[in-house]
Amino acid sequence: EVFNATIPIYWHVICAGDAISEGNISDSQIEANLDVINKDYSASGVRYALEGITRTANASWFANAGPQTSLQADMKKELRQGGANALNIYTVGFRNGPSRGLLGYSTFPSAYQGAPQDDGVVILYSTVPGGDLPKFNLGKTLTHEVGHWVGLYHTFEGGCLEPGDYVDDTPPEALPSFGCPASKHTCTSPGMDLVHNFMDYADDDCMSEFTSGQIARMVSQISTYRLGP
Ligand code: ARG
Ligand code: ZN
Ligand code: CA
Repeated sequence: EVFNATIPIYWHVICAGDAISEGNISDSQIEANLDVINKDYSASGVRYALEGITRTANASWFANAGPQTSLQADMKKELRQGGANALNIYTVGFRNGPSRGLLGYSTFPSAYQGAPQDDGVVILYSTVPGGDLPKFNLGKTLTHEVGHWVGLYHTFEGGCLEPGDYVDDTPPEALPSFGCPASKHTCTSPGMDLVHNFMDYADDDCMSEFTSGQIARMVSQISTYRLGP
């Protein structure tokens, strides 16, 4: 690969209560999830290197750290490390309110400059390898959220309308794929839906690819927004 970037990872484990409580995933689960993303991003020349793990007991962050909440802002303000190139990952429980049932969410590269403290990926702790969430416990939630973190949109972004996900070799898709459909074609324009794409919504064992157009976009987004310290 021409492109070669190593992204430092700071992984923040948020637990529901004391040190042995819910959410306290193991170091080996974290390493297993990083192995998953390193494999899934291997064609891009992007590598993810673990720099540190923090562990925090905070029942409120664990339960309520959904997108755009002041709680997630507090959590990141206290824990975030590194600059624009550093990927901070928070594992939480998404128990309450609007975050209930969420698998994860992420900020986009272009938002870093305006809100550096908010930058990062937040995922449900039971989506890591060996987690207890059926169909979503192979670590692909992290692959998907990191896709957003390097500037990719969903394959179904904008439905059948241009510019969709701003990637030329991903056909437009009217609706997300759930489960693992054999095949699907939801727009009248040519091209089957990319049901196995990491930026769609299929089950973990159904997700297996980025297109070369997506890889070109992430390389360009990383180069533009995430190579600084
Ligand atoms: N729904 C979440 C999002 O839009 C994550 C989807 C992850 N899918 C999976 N198979 N793990 O960011
Ligand atoms: Zn997404
Ligand atoms: Ca597209």
